[in-house]
Amino acid sequence: MRPIRIALTKGRLETDSIALFQKLGYDCSAVLNKGRRLILPISDGTHEMEVVLAKAADVVTYVENGVCDIGVVGKDTIMEMGGTFYEVADLGFGRCRFALAVPKGKDFYSGYHTRRIASKYVNVTRSVFEAKNMDVNIVKIEGSVELAPILGLSDAIVDIVQTGLTLRENGLEVVEDLADISARLIVNIASLKLRKSEIDPFITQIENILKEEEPT
Ligand code: PRP
Repeated sequence: MRPIRIALTKGRLETDSIALFQKLGYDCSAVLNKGRRLILPISDGTHEMEVVLAKAADVVTYVENGVCDIGVVGKDTIMEMGGTFYEVADLGFGRCRFALAVPKGKDFYSGYHTRRIASKYVNVTRSVFEAKNMDVNIVKIEGSVELAPILGLSDAIVDIVQTGLTLRENGLEVVEDLADISARLIVNIASLKLRKSEIDPFITQIENILKEEEPT
């Protein structure tokens, strides 16, 4: 049987995820010295696992399809993609929020025209405005969404805000905070059943670390 595979979101969540696995006693030197390799072994001396480095959306796809058993991915991606898997833990890192933002000083709600909203997260944006009973046009942007209102393509954006620096440096401001985001541990439904004896202790170990780290 292949080792348990963990799909890890590359980039912002990568360092915190590796730090977490190290706290569990896993030697992550292969991941830290990965070069261009995308599948790396980690071990705590007893359990061998494989870390698969992937883009956030692909983490969900790999876990949902069972080619990876476990995933670490942001709640933003989960909210946008949905999918069928268990979300078993809030890992507490990668904290940021979804926000609605506009060019500084602009009154988003004044006037009657249909607003145009730019976002990478079109499904999240749709549900936000459905909940407000507001008809909007949504424009999908792949890169820096902040550009859209600056260039005059949209009235506002729905995007992730962490420090708020990107908004500030580009003359935008938050109109409304929409949802809190953090990294989540997800598990394939069949894996949790078929490889319970391997996955359950790993989840418990993580839960215990998270409890220890909880502010008192
Ligand atoms: C995200 C988001 C903002 C930025 C916010 O992009 O889309 O642009 O971070 O962070 P801040 O509030 O700390 O400035 P990211 O850097 O993840 O890159 P991306 O555009 O490739 O998603």
